[in-house]
Amino acid sequence: MSNKPIGIFDSGVGGISIWKELQQRLPLEDTIYLADSKNAPYGEKSAETIVQLSIKNTELLLDLGCKLIVVACNTATTNAIDHLRTHYPVPFIGIEPAIKPAALGSTSGSVGVLATRGTLSSALFHSTSKNHASTIKIMEQEGTGLVELVEAGQASSETARALLKKYIQPMVASGIDHLVLGCTHYPHLIPLLKEELPAHVKIIDCGEAVANQTHRILEKQGLLAKDHGQTKHQFFTNADPSLVRSFLSGAKGEVVISFKDF
Ligand code: DGL
Repeated sequence: MSNKPIGIFDSGVGGISIWKELQQRLPLEDTIYLADSKNAPYGEKSAETIVQLSIKNTELLLDLGCKLIVVACNTATTNAIDHLRTHYPVPFIGIEPAIKPAALGSTSGSVGVLATRGTLSSALFHSTSKNHASTIKIMEQEGTGLVELVEAGQASSETARALLKKYIQPMVASGIDHLVLGCTHYPHLIPLLKEELPAHVKIIDCGEAVANQTHRILEKQGLLAKDHGQTKHQFFTNADPSLVRSFLSGAKGEVVISFKDF
């Protein structure tokens, strides 16, 4: 069991930012990644559709023999992880906007959250953000259009820069000192964000925390992989494989990227 792969899914290439952290923290693990780019952006879909898409991805990963699933998508986590945990027998690790570390680190008392509409309107996000509402002001901003640009291979484009500027300016003007990236596609925009944000605004992205939590759960359940030679990383995408490839430079182990209609 322990040498079976970890399954990971996202609405596209966003979760590759999480996959990179997993590979660093868990170098002996094989992985299978599903990039459901055909259905991106999840953030503009109804909660019911997001649950259905998450079920489809989960069942495919289970058919492929995964021992644990990382939902590498804030939108799918905040809308579907409760359903997945009650219906399937493997551990699920999710990701949601990291408001807590931002709130703890804030001195201005104001933090920004950039996320999809689907995440910001979810019940899970509302309850997390309510828990911090008495101590800090949370400025929410939908990142409409950003996922599409990353999926189009335009994460470094001037169009992406202009859109980011439009979204962060009101938050910066209102005094945020932390910006929480509440979508796994957005870490691909960090180079642009760093150029556009004032130096005192800290970017919070919790990929490392997800990798640490995955390690903890695998260890607790006796599922950590043993050294079995070269690791294998399979990527399945239902869009153009060259987009996935463009995010994987420097990946270690055997990397196989294939088109699959799922
Ligand atoms: N990477 C997904 C997330 O973390 C993007 C959602 C979308 O496809 O809109 O929310």
